[in-house]
Amino acid sequence: MEGDRIEIRPADERDRRPLAHLFAAVAEERDGIAAEPPIDVEKRAANWDLDRTLVALAAGEVVGLVFVIESGFGFGEIGMMVARDWRGRGVGSALVAAAIGWGRESGLHKLTLSVFPHNEAAIRLYRKFGFAEEGRREKQIRRANGELWDLIEMGLQL
Ligand SMILES: CC(C)(COP(=O)(O)OP(=O)(O)OC[C@H]1O[C@@H](n2cnc3c(N)ncnc32)[C@H](O)[C@@H]1OP(=O)(O)O)[C@@H](O)C(=O)NCCC(=O)NCCS
Repeated sequence: MEGDRIEIRPADERDRRPLAHLFAAVAEERDGIAAEPPIDVEKRAANWDLDRTLVALAAGEVVGLVFVIESGFGFGEIGMMVARDWRGRGVGSALVAAAIGWGRESGLHKLTLSVFPHNEAAIRLYRKFGFAEEGRREKQIRRANGELWDLIEMGLQL
């Protein structure tokens, strides 16, 4: 929706529970991310790696997150999600742009990510920012129902 004000900032202590709740809600969808229910929200909130996370806020509420895990070898791996009601309004784009900026400022030479082949919204989002498909891991992720899902690996040189 035009006019939605989205703020992106580094995560801090007050975000722990909202981050964990967002993660649990997206896991409940059993579609875009590898994690599936049950998610221990209290534990995830307590252990959330705030230093590697950026949050997207709308009217003060956490509506999206991206984390960048530095490898120690110059590349960082990203993961992200946007609250279902907020998708398609540019929140994901704002988060990817911020992650790319954060990666450059941190001296990383590359960002990588893994995405399920059926996740067209995510793949289009990443392509829009120049991420290229670098390979496919077959039957990589075992789902709770026993299905084995492929992963597409994508990367962006910074
Ligand atoms: C993938 C995800 C993060 C995208 O977030 P978003 O806020 O909807 O993204 P945006 O609104 O910024 O849209 C970004 C681009 O994605 C594409 N896109 C968004 N929604 C789409 C849809 N339903 N179908 C196809 N493409 C879509 C478009 O190319 C769009 O760019 P454009 O608006 O300039 O054309 C979000 O759908 C999500 O959280 N999904 C569940 C969790 C997940 O899959 N995380 C990624 C794991 S790899």
